[in-house]
Amino acid sequence: MPDALPQPVDDISLTRAHSPADTVMLAPPICTMGEKAHFTQYDLLATLGNGRHLLMGDDPRLPKMPARPRLADFFQHRFVPMVANHLLQSAGLAKKKGLDEKVIIACLLHDIAMAGLITSDHGYWGAQLIEPYVDEEVSWAVRHHQALRYFPDESVGYSYPEAYVRYFGNDYQPPDYLHQVYEQARRHKWYMTSRLITVNDPYAFDPQTVVGIDDFEEVIGRHFMQPKEGLGFDNSPTSHMWRTMIWPRNSL
Ligand SMILES: [Fe+2]
Ligand SMILES: [Fe+2]
Repeated sequence: MPDALPQPVDDISLTRAHSPADTVMLAPPICTMGEKAHFTQYDLLATLGNGRHLLMGDDPRLPKMPARPRLADFFQHRFVPMVANHLLQSAGLAKKKGLDEKVIIACLLHDIAMAGLITSDHGYWGAQLIEPYVDEEVSWAVRHHQALRYFPDESVGYSYPEAYVRYFGNDYQPPDYLHQVYEQARRHKWYMTSRLITVNDPYAFDPQTVVGIDDFEEVIGRHFMQPKEGLGFDNSPTSHMWRTMIWPRNSL
């Protein structure tokens, strides 16, 4: 996403849940690297017992998810609202242009990892998350937007995002592995599907443009196979990733 920076992690140290019981939460190690808590947070294990426990299951600070969660429930109850809006605006642009529905669903999902899971390498995490539920072309496009967004394609009017100069500085260079992925992707039969994600990635978040997830109900119905057990409970290769978004502070 060119113009939306990730939200800062507001809680990287030990916190106490606002639950009636004496419940304590651990922060995921990926969020404590570089922090003092990385070395100290497990000290609290010695304090457990006698009614004081680690959080398992529902985080009392979060809305409870339905028993059989659907994609829209994650948009409404878990995703960073600014990123969810970014995804909806991106898909809205693709829809307005009358692009193929595979492109519309790819736009709707392209930053899903940034919305609910992790920012670093978000194209790869997002592609993996959705892989069991979408056409291979869609997950391929989401994975490769990670690389393509750094490289211009004047044939479709895509330039290096001006926002990236502000974000990363004048001299930022994508790492070699992304150059290699880009070179492979541009010769691939699905190149344009991924390229169109970058073309429809809104350069500026527009608070005036209100697009709801309901606007995409039919596209989701046709291009995202929602499991009857609910996302997280269908024992697919990525169910655990959906469950992690349902219960992000499960201790183990
Ligand atoms: Fe984006
Ligand atoms: Fe992105």
